Amino acid sequence: MKIVTVVGARPQFIKAAPVSRALRARHSEVLVHTGQHYDARMSDVFFAELGIPLPDVNLGIGSGSHGQQTGRMLMAIEEVLLAERPDWVLVYGDTNSTLAAALAAVKLAAPVAHVEAGLRSFNRAMPEEHNRVLTDHCADLLFCPTQTAVGLLAAEGLTAGVHLVGDVMVDALRQHANLARQRSDVLARLGLTPQGYLLATVHRPYNTDLPDNLRSIFAAFGEIVAQGGRPLVLPLHPRTRGRLAELGLTPPAGVALIDPVGYLDMLALEQDAAMILTDSGGIQKEAYTFAVPCITLRPETEWVETVQAGWNVVVGADRAAIVQAATQRRWPGESPPPVFGDGQAAGRIVAALEAAHGIPCGPAS
Ligand code: UD1
Ligand code: UDP
Repeated sequence: MKIVTVVGARPQFIKAAPVSRALRARHSEVLVHTGQHYDARMSDVFFAELGIPLPDVNLGIGSGSHGQQTGRMLMAIEEVLLAERPDWVLVYGDTNSTLAAALAAVKLAAPVAHVEAGLRSFNRAMPEEHNRVLTDHCADLLFCPTQTAVGLLAAEGLTAGVHLVGDVMVDALRQHANLARQRSDVLARLGLTPQGYLLATVHRPYNTDLPDNLRSIFAAFGEIVAQGGRPLVLPLHPRTRGRLAELGLTPPAGVALIDPVGYLDMLALEQDAAMILTDSGGIQKEAYTFAVPCITLRPETEWVETVQAGWNVVVGADRAAIVQAATQRRWPGESPPPVFGDGQAAGRIVAALEAAHGIPCGPAS
């Protein structure tokens, strides 16, 4: 089979790594980078650390308004698909790169497979919600990380081509967690000790583009550090760095703003954090998998299993609610149940692509 994989943003490089490895063992993959993320710390570092082959094509689209960015990607991806004529177009997650690739493919009648299908926040103000709903409805194969996602697709009438495979981010995490412990010296570099710090990330428009929300989150971080006496480390997404500069907002005492870190440093920081505060989708799951308490700085989450198990609490951007969750909440004593799969999602995805293409199943391994 020939597969064109389209990625463009940080979490997609991480999601694609295990699948790309499994695919290339038996098939031909053309890796297309849209260029949505382009800073070395948002892109190159992941290719190097996760052993992802360099992109065969980099479209160099860069930043822009949603319409401009998605439209430029759509035109450029169409050219690639016309030249490559793949058996499958493989897309990940819910970014503008995901939607552009799915649209380009469906308009050329090229089969589309969507990894991380069936996620819903039911918040149509989020760009990701449009992207994932539209991509799911374009896709021929829908690879779900959880049973919840399978059920949400069924509620929209999508049952054909749906496969529960587990979460590819858990594949990536399992493949790199020990390596992160061995290779990363990030704690020493930052003067941190295990359990002696909190970790945070903030990049959603709901938080970065509403000044009151960004101010409220930073005020909460300052109070939490003051009450708990532990520093908070915040690897800053470039979107957030830009907004902080525009607002002239400086970090409260004990809050260390650092550049975005590579995947191994991030896994190392997550594993030893006393608590994680984030609006990231992927980091909520990583916190859960490492059994680190998580506070979600959004009004809702797609990863409801983490909340049901008691390891995540959704608080939005309200200062008092964030502080209360961080300082007063009791967290579960037992390990979180493995709801995101067994770390073997990539193999199932390759097998399902082969079966749908008419390739007989190999011997069970
Ligand atoms: C995108 C995704 C979001 C995902 C996130 C992962 C969409 C609509 N959003 O959000 O779902 O959670 O990636 O990190 O696709 N910038 C740089 N350097 C870069 C990349 C971005 O400086 O390498 C700055 C630019 O000012 C840009 C802004 O960040 O305008 C936002 O980047 P963009 O890719 O549009 O959205 P993200 O917020 O990264
Ligand atoms: N990540 C990273 N370095 C950072 C911040 C995040 O390696 O400085 C990783 C994180 O471990 C997770 C993924 O990037 O695997 C999540 O990406 P992000 O939060 O940008 O996007 P989302 O998951 O919200 O779409």
